[in-house]
Formats: sequence, C-alpha cells, structure tokens
Amino acid sequence: MKKTVIDLLLLENKQLNKDNFLLKLQSPVPVSDIFPGQFVNVEIKDAQEIFLRRPFSVLDVDYQAQTITLLVKILGRGSKKLTEAQPGVQISTILPLGKSFTLPEKDDHILLIGGGSGVAPMLFLAKLCGLDPENVHVLIGARSITDHIDIEEYKPFGNFYFTTEDGSLGEKGYVTNHPVFTNKLNEFTKIYTCGPDLMMKAIGRIALENKLFCEVSLENMMACGFGVCLCCVEDTKAGHKCVCTDGPVFNVNDLKW
Ligand SMILES: Cc1cc2nc3c(=O)[nH]c(=O)nc-3n(C[C@H](O)[C@H](O)[C@H](O)COP(=O)(O)OP(=O)(O)OC[C@H]3O[C@@H](n4cnc5c(N)ncnc54)[C@H](O)[C@@H]3O)c2cc1C
Ligand code: FES
Repeated sequence: MKKTVIDLLLLENKQLNKDNFLLKLQSPVPVSDIFPGQFVNVEIKDAQEIFLRRPFSVLDVDYQAQTITLLVKILGRGSKKLTEAQPGVQISTILPLGKSFTLPEKDDHILLIGGGSGVAPMLFLAKLCGLDPENVHVLIGARSITDHIDIEEYKPFGNFYFTTEDGSLGEKGYVTNHPVFTNKLNEFTKIYTCGPDLMMKAIGRIALENKLFCEVSLENMMACGFGVCLCCVEDTKAGHKCVCTDGPVFNVNDLKW
C-alpha cells in the first residue's frame, strides 16, 4: 500500500484494562501490504494544543473488512485524548509508515518478545508469519497481571508465555528471566522484540553475544513520521538513521549496542 494521508472511521474503542485501549478503524479503500512493525501516524482530533501526530504500531489488519486495529496505551495528553474518541468519528492518519520486520522463512523457530504496548507488532507478526504455531513462541512482559491485555484471539498462532514484575501472572521478573529466554534461546533461529528501550537493549545484547538473528522495533520520539524533521535519529554503525523511515525495525547488528 502506498503511503497515504487518509481519514479512517473509528468503528470500535474498547478499554482492555486501566491504561490500554483497542481502536478498530475502517478504511474507505482496501488496506493491502501493511506488515508487522509498520506504524500509523495519528492526528489527535479536538485537541488544538496537540499539533504533532502520534505514532502507533499496527496490531492487526483485516483485509476483507478493510480495518486496522491499534493498541493505545495512555502515556500523556495525546494518547489519552485518542482513547476518548467515540465510535463514528473520522481519524486522520498517515499510513503505512516505516519498515516492517523481516518475515521468517518456513523452517524458522521464532521468539517474539513484547513489553508494554510493544506487544502490538509481536501479536501481528505471530498471526501473519504463516509458520506452524509450534514454531512460534511469544513472550510477553508487564508490570502486573492488570497491565496484560487479553491475547485469547492470538493463542492459535503460537505458544504464549508471560512475566510480571510482581509475579501476579506467569514468571516473576523480567522477560529476560523467563526460562524460555534463559534456557532455550539458542533453539530459536530468529528473535524479534518491541517494548521499553531497556528491555530491547538487554535482549539485543544477549542476542549479539550468542550471535543470534535479532530485530528490534525502536520507539524513538517522532514528529513528522516520514523523514523530514530528523527528530527521531538513531546513531547506527552506518551513521545517523531516521527511525521513522530507515526503521523502526533494525537488526541489532546494525545498532551501536
Ligand atoms: C514507531 C512507534 C510505534 C509506537 N507504537 C505504539 C503502540 O502500538 N501503542 C502505544 O500505546 N504507543 C506506541 N508508541 C508510543 C506512542 O507514540 C507514544 O506513547 C505517544 O506518542 C505518546 O503521546 P502522548 O501525547 O500521549 O504523550 P506526550 O504527552 O507526548 O508524552 C508523555 C510522556 O511520554 C514520553 N514519550 C512520548 N513518546 C514516547 C515514546 N515514543 N517513547 C518513550 N517515551 C515517550 C514523553 O517524553 C513524556 O514524558 C509508538 C511509538 C513509536 C515511535
Ligand atoms: S519523525 Fe521526522 S524524521 Fe523521523
């Protein structure tokens, strides 16, 4: 799908837990070729003080129904305002933006690791990758059980594991403490991750030490979303790169981690 500025109709706005909302948006034109890792830059309507669009990863696409689903976690003014939007309103977006994850090959065994709202592109990748679900492992970390979102719909696409910092769901601790990470890492041919910077750095460094393929989706602060303002640059081995156009997905080998 060619990068487009387009108004999408908000069909559904569902609160999942205290801070996380699912927004299902319908496009007036077919939504083809949107891949996991790509994102949408969303205008926050009815908030004249918020000028810049906000980036959100695509959580899901229904090509037949022409819908795109986003997972929005309230962080500040923009995300809060967006979660207050009522079904029926039009939301201006620019999409699809950025480069997607490298899709796995049919013999790959993959580990997808999502933290916080970084779970969104991981669930989309699990669903879209087309691998035997036996070979897809999804590890999701959050602070507490109340911060985890319901992933029931995605269960058929892989094996799921959970961590919480307080031990209220799954293994207690960080994703890097989970046995699927500590004991089985070398069984995976590809690792993909999205989430808090510290989490991705910890995973990326361990992947580098073990010489494993690992792609991370960076969430640097963005403004324009399409390579003009240079506010999202990341210092890579090949110089400064715009996360919005050269990423957000990078191979850890290319980063100065
Ligand atoms: C490529 C990409 C994909 C993203 N995907 C998702 C997603 O699927 N779901 C989701 O909920 N969020 C996602 N985000 C983050 C989302 O864009 C920010 O939460 C949002 O822009 C915050 O806007 P705000 O107006 O609510 O917060 P602001 O009022 O602008 O900021 C509130 C606080 O959050 C900090 N902050 C703002 N943006 C970021 C950021 N990107 N990383 C770290 N701290 C930040 C600010 O420094 C400030 O302290 C993504 C970001 C990027 C770059
Ligand atoms: S957000 Fe403007 S260049 Fe990346």
